[in-house]
Amino acid sequence: MDIYVDTANLDEIKIAASLGVLDGVTTNPSLIAKEGVPFKQRMKEICAVVKGPVSAEVVSIEHDAMIAEAEPLIDIAENIVIKFPCIEEGIKACKTLSDRGVRVNMTLCFQPLQALLAAKAGAFLISPFVGRVDDVGGDGMEIIQQIRVIYDNYGFKTKILTASIRHPQHMVQAAMMGSDVATAPLKVIQQMIKHPLTDVGLKNFLADWEKSKAQLVKEPAMA
Ligand code: E4P
Repeated sequence: MDIYVDTANLDEIKIAASLGVLDGVTTNPSLIAKEGVPFKQRMKEICAVVKGPVSAEVVSIEHDAMIAEAEPLIDIAENIVIKFPCIEEGIKACKTLSDRGVRVNMTLCFQPLQALLAAKAGAFLISPFVGRVDDVGGDGMEIIQQIRVIYDNYGFKTKILTASIRHPQHMVQAAMMGSDVATAPLKVIQQMIKHPLTDVGLKNFLADWEKSKAQLVKEPAMA
């Protein structure tokens, strides 16, 4: 499963990239707004750090305006992926750009039929938001399972990108369900490495090692 970091913060992206296991980046208008920097400039900076797919979302909601807004973003770098919402105009825009060979990430997906249409429109990525479904009492991961079955039934090449991840258990479930990609905040990526028994075990190994070194020094020299 590919791992993307879900942030527009350059420091966080650099930390995630330094692990050597980062495959891409997702951003959205809220994440960009939080940074308070010009959108295109930040996308350029991100693409200089990460060579994998970097999603940049448009804010227009009508086909022609969406395409017009996407054009300058497409020119930023080869690894830019254009993000459209799962609305009727978004499906049309996805078809237009996909037919041109531009990679599209269809976002704000909350049910499997949106994913089916996105795949038919040639999307490179579909982003079901599992955490937001959980937030309102639903089962976000069930949607991933449903999309996996539908895509496998018909051999769709669109990659499932599990998004709106809240905790490491979402990552476990995404990987077990065969999600192609998961995008998560830096904190969750860091939590993937953590286990208290690893920390305790390491602490004990190092303490035992130091103890044995001290004992060796005390040993009398061989005659
Ligand atoms: C994905 O592309 C989105 O940016 C993201 O996962 C949304 O997550 P949120 O529900 O935590 O805002």
